[in-house]
Amino acid sequence: MIVNIDQNLCTGCGFCGDICPRHIMETITQNDEKNVIVSPERSHLCMKCGHCAAVCPSSCIKVNGLKSEDFIPFKESGIHSDQLLSLFSQRRSIRRYKNKRISRDKIQQIVEAAHRAPTGTASRSTGIIVIDNPQILSIFSEHVYKIYEDLEKSLKNPIARFFIKRQIGKNKFMALLDFVMPGMKWYIHWYKQGKSNEILRDCPALMLFHSPIFEPMGAENCLVSAFHAIMMAQVEGIGTCFNDLIPPACNMAPETRKLLDLPEDREVYASITMGYSKYRFKQMPQRKLAEFRYID
Ligand SMILES: Cc1cc2nc3c(=O)[nH]c(=O)nc-3n(C[C@H](O)[C@H](O)[C@H](O)COP(=O)(O)O)c2cc1C
Repeated sequence: MIVNIDQNLCTGCGFCGDICPRHIMETITQNDEKNVIVSPERSHLCMKCGHCAAVCPSSCIKVNGLKSEDFIPFKESGIHSDQLLSLFSQRRSIRRYKNKRISRDKIQQIVEAAHRAPTGTASRSTGIIVIDNPQILSIFSEHVYKIYEDLEKSLKNPIARFFIKRQIGKNKFMALLDFVMPGMKWYIHWYKQGKSNEILRDCPALMLFHSPIFEPMGAENCLVSAFHAIMMAQVEGIGTCFNDLIPPACNMAPETRKLLDLPEDREVYASITMGYSKYRFKQMPQRKLAEFRYID
């Protein structure tokens, strides 16, 4: 059984069944006594989110695969909403970094935030790779530029263009042609001249988020996790920037996959460059999304 209830301790309060997204626990009344049972019809639907065990007042629930050490006592965050808004407002995408390494203690703290991200289907299958070794970052850069140089050549070939469009879909293909590659032409040029590295931005650390290919929410999980990391980095005084150019380059060439030790069944779906910002922002933009409304 995936969820076990210690019937000697259970008071029949029913909190577990109510909070469960799939009502796997059911309260039944037998001889005027309330008993909570695991529904035989739905037990296999358990997502192992652990909400049932986390709310149980008598700590009588065990979810297979979740040890009691996996739970820590709930503590109020003490963060005021204005403080959180201020943190969000201060975050900018940092593309120019100081030549200063980030301590692994800080990276660890950033990874801790990423670990706490929610995951679709509660699969928790996201993995994180950090590259903070300058030599490896430099080798990795070579790989990434080689891939984009090859892509530039391929896009000149109508047959290759057809297959690339079919593989990535029309919208991404148009963005590749109209937005990515016109800039890439210059990135490659500057990189070859030794002028700048506009893909990795000479970041002292790169964080890659990967997921199994067959994970239905893999890409979304990676993005959410990356955003957790970004906000922790902000608190730690470290600037970050999402980077959409890096994930496809991680997945394509076997030698890059080997460098990253990326298992065959996984792909990188999100990446963030990180480091201490070279510049200080004096002003923050007042941002609004396109729309916000109620339907009354
Ligand atoms: C999903 C996503 C992907 C992004 N990809 C890139 C990227 O590949 N390269 C880059 O320089 N910035 C990238 N950005 C950063 C955006 O360009 C940036 O958030 C936007 O310009 C607003 O600036 P701000 O983050 O400083 O507020 C990305 C942002 C998001 C949310």
